[in-house]
Amino acid sequence: MAADGMKLEESAASSDGFIRVTALSELKEGKGKVFILGDDEIAVIKLTEAFTSIDGTSGQLNSRLYAFVNVCPHQHTPLVDSCGGQVSGQNLTCPMHGWTYDLKTGGCINGNGKLKMLEIRVQDGGVFVKKRKSNGTCWR
Ligand code: FES
Repeated sequence: MAADGMKLEESAASSDGFIRVTALSELKEGKGKVFILGDDEIAVIKLTEAFTSIDGTSGQLNSRLYAFVNVCPHQHTPLVDSCGGQVSGQNLTCPMHGWTYDLKTGGCINGNGKLKMLEIRVQDGGVFVKKRKSNGTCWR
């Protein structure tokens, strides 16, 4: 586990299983943040999609948030820690051996396995993640 993950109290989860992990304003574009929730280390990443229109103007679309169990399926090392995971577009590359994951689906682009994606939502300026079921399976 990454030593810098903030430990969350599982008992603080709402009746539908969501727990507040941070304020939306604390998330930096493309940089993951790590939290400890029970036996899981989870990572949250905010990405904003850019666009270029046909006339060459560019801009940004709405931000999207992604949450997943912070373990690379290859050799079970953290994907996001104080040094990385490298984010490019909607993809996250493991710093160990370069397997790359699509954060929209959790699928691996150049290896095997799949990230354990978690439900995430924003409410009243807070970011909430749904904790995993007690049997370890994910909610989505
Ligand atoms: S541990 Fe992530 S690619 Fe090998």
